[in-house]
Amino acid sequence: MFVTVLFLLLQFCASVFGAHRELLPSKAPSNLTLLEINQGQVLIQWDPIEPDTVRGSFKGYLVRTWNHAGSLVYAFPPDVTRASIDFFPFSKNFITVSVRNEKYVGPPSEAISFDAPQREPQSPQTLHIFTLSNKSVLIRWSKPSQPNGILLGYRIYCREMNDTFGEIKRETSHLINDPDKFQAKLTGLEEGVKYQIGVSAVNCAGESDVTKAGIVLGPHTPVEPFPSRFVYKTNYTTPKRDEKCYKTLTSPAEEEDEEVDDYYDYLLYNHTNYKETTPSPVKTDYEQNCLVDCLVLWMPDVSNNPGEYFYLKYRVRGETDYTVTEPETSEDFILLRNFDACKKYEMVIVAVDGEFSTESGTVFTPPKLYSNIL
Ligand SMILES: *[C@@H]1O[C@H](CO)[C@@H](O)[C@H](O)[C@H]1NC(C)=O
Ligand SMILES: *[C@@H]1O[C@H](CO)[C@@H](O)[C@H](O)[C@H]1NC(C)=O
Ligand SMILES: *[C@@H]1O[C@H](CO)[C@@H](O)[C@H](O)[C@H]1NC(C)=O
Ligand SMILES: *[C@@H]1O[C@H](CO)[C@@H](O)[C@H](O)[C@H]1NC(C)=O
Ligand SMILES: *[C@@H]1O[C@H](CO)[C@@H](O)[C@H](O)[C@H]1NC(C)=O
Repeated sequence: MFVTVLFLLLQFCASVFGAHRELLPSKAPSNLTLLEINQGQVLIQWDPIEPDTVRGSFKGYLVRTWNHAGSLVYAFPPDVTRASIDFFPFSKNFITVSVRNEKYVGPPSEAISFDAPQREPQSPQTLHIFTLSNKSVLIRWSKPSQPNGILLGYRIYCREMNDTFGEIKRETSHLINDPDKFQAKLTGLEEGVKYQIGVSAVNCAGESDVTKAGIVLGPHTPVEPFPSRFVYKTNYTTPKRDEKCYKTLTSPAEEEDEEVDDYYDYLLYNHTNYKETTPSPVKTDYEQNCLVDCLVLWMPDVSNNPGEYFYLKYRVRGETDYTVTEPETSEDFILLRNFDACKKYEMVIVAVDGEFSTESGTVFTPPKLYSNIL
């Protein structure tokens, strides 16, 4: 009884205020077209809907865009049929448009899709500064939440600030050409000066915002360091920007082939950059298979006295003498050239603070198998 009355009342109101009965819109807008991709936005256009297919009071259009990981919805008023919307970088994106009346959203149009380009990465999520001495710090940061493309590395900033941290008096920066390194040492700092240290992430599309932290170094009396840890990477290489970001088109046949691999479409093209063959010095089989660069990264114990710098001792297993590197006073790593990955090594890293030094435990590197069956 009440329900009927309410229904009649609603019908009465609807007729008084001139609203129609709202039904599901019967058609989707046609001819959804991608016009251009520009500055992180995509410009799209569709044809206006015929009014009688709205089947209710026309509220406008809903545009939905998505990729494998997320989606976004935009509402536009009835008079808009061309709009700029955000896209999800470095992935395949899809877009549809639907009609909206007072009550319903109509069927979506046929989806259009495109391979979205890279964008600048998100900034590193955290940055921590650890004191090594009265002139050196070790900084550690974390990966950006969204790389938005192919990460190439990080840029480190060191800014000398005025006393209230309000003004930059001097700034230096340098690039770390390794997306998997999350640590750096800064040295040559002065006691009592206010420093703002920053780190940004860099990919093929550019540089992220800078994650910052401040520090003032005080006096430091050397004491015995705690034992360090370290990691080593044999066959260490750093990414070459051109190789990572530009896909070289080696032959005209390949140029026509659109689906070479998954990343093909997302890379920036460089048509002029044809493959070059540079003559390389002749190497023996053994050298080619075994001699590599080896990166040794110092991981000092930052929750205790870490030491101000380090050096490395290493020897082939069974030999009596260690090769001892020069003290590495400015970086947090040593690169061993022509490291023989086919031999077993023992490595020890030594942290130094003033006249004190402390050895790490010994690490035994496993040999790479060298086989000459070809
Ligand atoms: C679809 O839109 C494009 C771009 O606006 C236009 O050139 C074309 O004529 C339209 N096609 C139809 C069938 O309306
Ligand atoms: C530092 O620079 C800011 C901005 O220029 C200024 O407002 C502030 O007074 C300066 N502080 C000192 C101690 O000079
Ligand atoms: C750091 O401390 C040492 C003494 O331990 C001192 O000789 C040196 O001048 C100090 N360096 C700086 C940059 O203040
Ligand atoms: C293509 O690569 C070459 C060599 O790497 C470079 O000099 C040139 O600027 C690149 N072209 C474009 C359009 O980036
Ligand atoms: C080093 O890495 C490259 C490419 O990642 C590989 O082709 C080469 O065989 C490796 N060399 C050794 C000695 O492991």
